[in-house]
Amino acid sequence: MKKIIAFAGSNSKASINKQLATYAASLVDGVEIEILDLNDFVMPMYGIDEENERGIPDEANIFSNLLKSSDGIILSLAEHNGSYAVAFKNIMDWVSRLEGKLWQEKPMLIMATSPGGRGGMSVLETATSTFPHMGGNVVGKFSLPSFGTNFSDGKITDEAFNSELLEEVKQLKDSL
Ligand SMILES: Cc1cc2nc3c(=O)[nH]c(=O)nc-3n(C[C@H](O)[C@H](O)[C@H](O)COP(=O)(O)O)c2cc1C
Repeated sequence: MKKIIAFAGSNSKASINKQLATYAASLVDGVEIEILDLNDFVMPMYGIDEENERGIPDEANIFSNLLKSSDGIILSLAEHNGSYAVAFKNIMDWVSRLEGKLWQEKPMLIMATSPGGRGGMSVLETATSTFPHMGGNVVGKFSLPSFGTNFSDGKITDEAFNSELLEEVKQLKDSL
């Protein structure tokens, strides 16, 4: 059976992006789903001196191997000041030291949501333009604005946004 790894680019215990990633994963039928939590991959803040002195932490290898074991990736990015949340960027930087093409050409659905009306569009645009240079095969993207209005009880409540996500999920499924 094909396997999808789903996670949020956030370390918040109540992450709205983790809720969205979990929902999107539930829409892909007939596959094994593994949901990751960035809190299981806590590493020192990346720095070249840290790397030279203590090497690359085991967590980076574990994370990279999890991506390797998957056939596709669903990622929903938290937006902090227009960019990645630190917890996500730190993991990405460490894993990129093992393998520059850290996304390993896996088909990816990348998403973002936020409480505001732009739905994390800035971080989503950054990821969409840069992931392909890091081995990212981005086959779908989706932004959900105003999370508090459009998502409830583990699902998207707005029909138009839900249909849009279903289309993107189909792109991912067809690429597995
Ligand atoms: C430091 C910080 C910066 C933020 N910057 C933005 C931002 O630039 N754009 C945005 O839409 N929301 C921003 N937010 C609000 C986040 O979208 C909100 O906290 C959201 O819940 C983050 O996703 P998460 O719950 O998955 O961690 C910011 C929040 C914090 C704490």
